[in-house]
Amino acid sequence: MKLTSYIIIGLSATLFACTAKKATTSSKAAAPAASDIVAEIDSKYTAEQKEEGKIIWQANCQKCHKLYEPESHTVAKWENILQRMSKKAKLNDVDAGKVRAYVITHAKS
Ligand code: HEC
Repeated sequence: MKLTSYIIIGLSATLFACTAKKATTSSKAAAPAASDIVAEIDSKYTAEQKEEGKIIWQANCQKCHKLYEPESHTVAKWENILQRMSKKAKLNDVDAGKVRAYVITHAKS
């Protein structure tokens, strides 16, 4: 009887570990692909707005350090960096969106 209980506990723990691992893997796969992010930006921003983004980027993104070129990072990296840096540069949502549109469009692939 005691041995059976141990086996059952052991089995459920193994099952749970597998389920937890699966859940992590699938949530990772749900992260948007770089091509989807670029396509989304292309549908929302015109070439003129991206050019405005370039001007805002030049004016605001080299106050604390050198100007990091869009080609210096991948789309995924920029998504993370821009969230932090737009706050540091105190950009409003509209300007941050235009900077993102410019930078992501020219990011390293
Ligand atoms: C108030 C100062 C400040 C402003 C303004 C600023 N940054 Fe930064 N940036 C930093 C600091 C400090 C670091 C290094 C520490 C860090 O990564 O958080 C950094 C790091 C970076 C990096 C390197 C990150 C890495 O992981 O390689 C990039 C790229 C960058 N900034 C881009 C930008 C862009 C784009 C803007 C304009 C939207 C901007 N920064 C505006 C302070 C600033």
